[in-house]
Amino acid sequence: KPILIGAPIDSGQKREGCLMGPAAFRVAGLARSLAELGVESDDWGDVTPGPLPEVTCPNPAVHHLAETVAWTRALAARAEAAMAQGLPIFMGGDHSLSLGTVAGVAAHAKALGRPLFVLWLDAHSDYHTPLTTQSGNLHGTPVAYIAGRPGFDAFPPFPAPVPADRICLYGIRSVDPAEHAGLLESDMTICDMRVLDEQGIVAPLRAFLDGVRAANGLLHVSLDVDFLDPAIAPAVGTTVPGGTTFREAHLVMEHLHESGLVTSLDLVELNPFLDERGRTARLMVELVGSLMGRKVFDRPTRSFG
Ligand code: ARG
Ligand code: MN
Ligand code: MN
Ligand code: MN
Repeated sequence: KPILIGAPIDSGQKREGCLMGPAAFRVAGLARSLAELGVESDDWGDVTPGPLPEVTCPNPAVHHLAETVAWTRALAARAEAAMAQGLPIFMGGDHSLSLGTVAGVAAHAKALGRPLFVLWLDAHSDYHTPLTTQSGNLHGTPVAYIAGRPGFDAFPPFPAPVPADRICLYGIRSVDPAEHAGLLESDMTICDMRVLDEQGIVAPLRAFLDGVRAANGLLHVSLDVDFLDPAIAPAVGTTVPGGTTFREAHLVMEHLHESGLVTSLDLVELNPFLDERGRTARLMVELVGSLMGRKVFDRPTRSFG
């Protein structure tokens, strides 16, 4: 059963507005659209961060560190609790929320004794550490935290770092030099736009999902609005041209549904202040619909693939 959890976090980057994301997802009808599919959901409301910790970072570019650490703690606790009850859908908030959500999901997976896999649907690799980021925007760091890269001393230790070969970066087309150097040394599955253009949107995804299934893993999906092409999803502060099309994105969601493997989901970086009459929020809600089983035409057996 899906559990909607708002994470109005804006501290991971500098353009204000992501804090309105959870409200926009609710107004765009996320719960209603699930109900139309016959899927009942619960709404646990919005998470609030706890008191600000005393933390420092040697990199002077890093901003809102204490705030982001406070969010990370609160979201990790909420995520772990929600994993025991259903399929949490975290409505962001900027992508720094995944520092917390994936930490909570990883703690749950560890307690269950099952491996966690992470599918990162994003234009960016988000593989900076607080020590390597030049923008200082912590929304560019969650993949490094999840993978156990050093440099996160201000944060709670990641409960069970996810081996790089269980992480798939999908749709990336913007990678900074320090991220690139780190990724070259890891076994991460990198499906950048070059790979997707040459192999198609489905084949690399299917290969990754086969690995999740074979390992009886849990699968966390983190969907950044900028995974989508800016022409269809303008409401994001970090647009990068050449993103996935409407049809590709729905196809990814449909395959995720058919796999039956997804156990938690982040919806991040929606900035309603940058939207055009709610179209990006509505598109994101439609994509969740496809992920939860909406079909144009329900064939008894699949006639393709
Ligand atoms: N790599 C860039 C940075 O560190 C962009 C990160 C964008 N991340 C995101 N979650 N949208 O600033
Ligand atoms: Mn701020
Ligand atoms: Mn991101
Ligand atoms: Mn991004």
